[in-house]
Amino acid sequence: MNIDIQLVPSAPNPNLLFDRAVVVIDVLRVTSVIIQAMSEGALEIIPVPTVEETFQMAKAFQRGFILLGGERESKNIPGFDLGNSPREYVADRVKGKKLILTTTNGTKAFHLVSSGKEILVGSFFNIGAVAQRCVELGRDLLIFPSGDEGNFSLEDTICGGMLIELITRKGENPISLTDASECAKILYRRFKDNLLEAFHLSRHGKELISRGFEEDLAYCARTDAIPLVPIFRDGVIRMPFNQPLSLRRGEKGKGNRT
Ligand code: MLT
Repeated sequence: MNIDIQLVPSAPNPNLLFDRAVVVIDVLRVTSVIIQAMSEGALEIIPVPTVEETFQMAKAFQRGFILLGGERESKNIPGFDLGNSPREYVADRVKGKKLILTTTNGTKAFHLVSSGKEILVGSFFNIGAVAQRCVELGRDLLIFPSGDEGNFSLEDTICGGMLIELITRKGENPISLTDASECAKILYRRFKDNLLEAFHLSRHGKELISRGFEEDLAYCARTDAIPLVPIFRDGVIRMPFNQPLSLRRGEKGKGNRT
């Protein structure tokens, strides 16, 4: 298994995506939002690049059944139901709902890698479960940090580095790492005992603090809090059928979906 990580979020070469698994990461905050919303019972999530497309898409659905969420410059979008803080995405708001999300970086990232073979949603919330899933898939892997408006993002790269470390430790397949992957692993090792230190150093972490979202930093640093691995396929994020519904709030005791 070869593991690569794209340190800057430009559209990858299609050859790099062919037959690969891809993990999209936007720790602060949209992949954390997606995993949280799924764990609270959201039915499915459509990541959309622009605000205009979001309003356009919403017209196709009954208003009571869908919710619009996201941000621009980390601020709530006028006319939307929810912002981009994972703490907003609780069962009372999202259970049984379809969500349409648009954010500055993360929702666009899914569309940049849409030709990947299996596209997984990752953050610190589900990092162990994602590592396990990557090992099970046994495919070459591209980790895709969503970055910061086209630039390198410290917190996403550290999360990618943790994923590389966990997959490597499982040691079930012979693994080769690109220089970028080695680099992400080294960064993760530097910050692994204090992820919040890295969040506070990052440009986006500082922006969130200045906008009053400091609590989101600690919230998004909770590793393995939600062991669900949503997938992005045909433009929609859903839970795959082989993951236990019992991990989702309010679904205890109903067993697997298979
Ligand atoms: C993004 O997709 O750019 C982020 O999730 C922005 C944010 O933290 O609100």
